Amino acid sequence: MTQSDRQEGALTGKTAIVTGGASGIGRAAVERFAREGAYVICADLDATAAQALAARLVADGLAVEATETDVTDESSVTAMASMALKVTGRIDTVLVNAGIMVEGDVLSVSLAAWTRVMNVNATGSFLTARAVMPHLIDTSGTLVFTASTVGLSGMKGVAAYSASKGAVVALTRQLAADYADRGVRVNAIAPGAVRTALSESQFRARARDDTHFNELLAQVIGRYPIARWGQPEEIAEVMLFLASDRSSWMTGQIIPVDGGLLELR
Ligand SMILES: NC(=O)c1ccc[n+]([C@@H]2O[C@H](COP(=O)([O-])OP(=O)(O)OC[C@H]3O[C@@H](n4cnc5c(N)ncnc54)[C@H](O)[C@@H]3O)[C@@H](O)[C@H]2O)c1
Repeated sequence: MTQSDRQEGALTGKTAIVTGGASGIGRAAVERFAREGAYVICADLDATAAQALAARLVADGLAVEATETDVTDESSVTAMASMALKVTGRIDTVLVNAGIMVEGDVLSVSLAAWTRVMNVNATGSFLTARAVMPHLIDTSGTLVFTASTVGLSGMKGVAAYSASKGAVVALTRQLAADYADRGVRVNAIAPGAVRTALSESQFRARARDDTHFNELLAQVIGRYPIARWGQPEEIAEVMLFLASDRSSWMTGQIIPVDGGLLELR
């Protein structure tokens, strides 16, 4: 199947970049965006996983290319944007999604861990936005950040992560204010608990053993009005909405996709 054989999708003819695209929520978004007709650049620190995903989706007739990118490195992020421009000549939407989590409150988190999380989640978001913004102005494009419910409400024991996602929330609103008059819309998703490598490692770090791990997972889900884990595809669906023209009068919004956690608990 070629690009022209496919039905028109919400992103047909568009070029999308997804950072942290090789795993979890980003991986679901890469596939969803590609199935909606986008040419997708899957940018990730884990080049092997990014290439494996791209190969699987290309074999399925989709347009996906992998690139090794470290969002904390300005030259790497610039190279990611250049690659997209070289391949398709445009950048229409960028999902700023790469993120890491470390455990700890302010007394227990090390400065090194704090700095690592802020570098990836907050500074990485800034560097990505800076590298792609001139090209999004050219296409009247969209930026979608992956924030977190934790960046809106706080959660026990994740001080660095929470602060970094608070920065993402503020950056989303700031960029929306700065670039609305140049045609760029900027929004964010605030996911609740989604079962991925990131959430798995968070609870593994807290758990004494397998039984305790399962107890912790059950405790988390017990707080959710829709009492189950979110699926990466359920987050990607809303990302698609915000990335595409379907959300054409929305900017500066932080949209919780969280099984009702923030509003109803
Ligand atoms: N899983 C959840 O419950 C949850 C909830 C709220 C928000 N989020 C956010 O969603 C985003 C995706 O998380 P996920 O749960 O899919 O995690 P994940 O660990 O499955 O995927 C994260 C991806 O980011 C990549 N990455 C890490 N550091 C990078 C760097 N410096 N440069 C480029 N890529 C890098 C990893 O290699 C990985 O492929 C993150 O921003 C996370 O904070 C996740």
